[in-house]
Amino acid sequence: MRNEIANFKDCKSIAIMGGTFDPIHNGHLVTAEAVRHRFKVDRVVFIPTGRPAHKLNKKVTHNEHRYLMTVLATMRNENFEVSRIEIDRPGATYTIDTIEELKKICRPDVRLYFITGADAINQIMSWKQPERLLTLCDFVAVTRPGYDKARLFEDIGEIREKYASRIHFMEVPALAISSSDIREREQKGEPIKYLLPQEVEDYIHKFGLYQDDATEEVKFMLPISTMQEKLQSAISVKRYIHTMGVAEEAVKLAEIYGTAQDQQKARVAGLLHDCAKDYPESMRLRFCKEYKVKTDEIMNKQTDLIHPFLGAEVAKREYQVLDEDVLNAIRFHTTGRPNMSLLEKIVFIADYIEPNREKFGGLDEARRLAYLDLDKAMVYILENTIEYVKARGRLLHPLSLEALEYYKNL
Ligand SMILES: [Fe+2]
Ligand SMILES: [Fe+2]
Repeated sequence: MRNEIANFKDCKSIAIMGGTFDPIHNGHLVTAEAVRHRFKVDRVVFIPTGRPAHKLNKKVTHNEHRYLMTVLATMRNENFEVSRIEIDRPGATYTIDTIEELKKICRPDVRLYFITGADAINQIMSWKQPERLLTLCDFVAVTRPGYDKARLFEDIGEIREKYASRIHFMEVPALAISSSDIREREQKGEPIKYLLPQEVEDYIHKFGLYQDDATEEVKFMLPISTMQEKLQSAISVKRYIHTMGVAEEAVKLAEIYGTAQDQQKARVAGLLHDCAKDYPESMRLRFCKEYKVKTDEIMNKQTDLIHPFLGAEVAKREYQVLDEDVLNAIRFHTTGRPNMSLLEKIVFIADYIEPNREKFGGLDEARRLAYLDLDKAMVYILENTIEYVKARGRLLHPLSLEALEYYKNL
């Protein structure tokens, strides 16, 4: 960080090249150089993402590998820098946080250009605080040749009208190179030479990156980005933020306790666990009937207990999630039940301790236990929840008591 301060204080304009850089390749480098030339910026800062919010479903190579490859790739260009801002920041990556942090270490009148793919521009309104973002920096949307720009203009009509001067387009032929293609080639043993700097190729070989079996990936019918879009129109902003936190926390727990597959399932289960929670009463009843969700006496009286069970059906029918373990994790995220699967426990616990939760008594202890022993965390959270429910005069579902009994006696 100290270096960054020294380097940026005398820059009047900076272009920011964010990306997963998994791996960084010549397409990125050519793009950065082209933007630098066209907008006459003093410096291009490459910012490898920590945990990209829009790529939460994918397995991403370790931060340090991606960071070092980016350093190697940029070291011959004196106008290129690499920043650890996102890598060192815990939690999901949001562009707005990065821009604001960067602003702090630059002169106040610095002009910032954020380089991003044209597809991402399309989704800009779904980013965190998009309008504020557009007041803080210019956007350079880079596309491969042949990209349907007219369509994009239409899609972003609303923001374009308002911020036209802030959004620039640029075609970059070298963007035909893609990181995913390089990963696939490497896995199949096909050449990757000349697609990326030699140093990066050497690094990939030295550490055997991209060799693992891609069949490990869990196949969901809808891409996560589509699920997120659907979800955003189904729940409130506040709930969406909570949901993203649960997904993130669930993946972290799965990283520790489970396999790569569990991480992907945890992501989807976390994302969808509250998908039916903001349905208005009438809609909830209609869907329960239509989707044949059986409600019991307690659920009928304490109607917020319906959302996990209905949520599982909604996940199945509207988000096309077929994995039974994921559906059960959604189904039992509120009540718990005896003998839960790893994924069920992870989602149950993540719902309680996710990072966007406002502080409450017992949160820190629950977090501590979650990363120590899942079953102990289950007992602690169930006890607290039961107490909370009773104190508020709400009805308790018998499943929670059975679950507590079960985990206490383990
Ligand atoms: Fe919930
Ligand atoms: Fe929740």
